[in-house]
Amino acid sequence: MKTAICYYSRHHGNTLKVLQAMAQDSQVDLIDVTRRQAVRLEDYDCTGFASGIYYGTFQESVLQFARQHLPEGKAVFFVFTYGVLRPSYTKVIGQIARERGCPVLDEFGCKGYDTFGPFKLVGGIAKGHPDGQDLDNARRFYQNLKETYNRGAYR
Ligand SMILES: Cc1cc2nc3c(=O)[nH]c(=O)nc-3n(C[C@H](O)[C@H](O)[C@H](O)COP(=O)(O)O)c2cc1C
Repeated sequence: MKTAICYYSRHHGNTLKVLQAMAQDSQVDLIDVTRRQAVRLEDYDCTGFASGIYYGTFQESVLQFARQHLPEGKAVFFVFTYGVLRPSYTKVIGQIARERGCPVLDEFGCKGYDTFGPFKLVGGIAKGHPDGQDLDNARRFYQNLKETYNRGAYR
């Protein structure tokens, strides 16, 4: 499965750590949406969108990148890190995928060290995350995703 993951990771590089764990031993291109302007997601079997959560959703440049580059019907998945878990973080990116008729294979989220705003005063929350367990879970998530894809239900 040839995979691209289009990501934004700026606050503490938390999301990138998770993606690097997923990409270990697999054919995954990590695409920083703030650097790469031209990309052909048509050339990949599957596309991930990944972000730290900023004000309750994926960072705007990832949403914009998806609106601009996501081909119709492409299998997608989502990866995110957050300070505090809420159920709605993939709502907007999920909506973009649905509008393109893209099947959503799965999503992975875990805590990421957060020193935004008042949290800085207390030394931050979700300290130490993503930790070793989070990264193991991320690796397992991507292995399972490949198996799901290879079973062929989404082609
Ligand atoms: C400006 C800003 C806004 C944030 N908003 C949220 C939020 O709404 N919900 C949440 O759980 N975490 C929020 N966070 C924490 C980040 O989602 C978390 O630290 C994440 O792991 C950052 O990922 P990154 O290091 O890959 O950029 C925010 C952080 C920043 C800097």
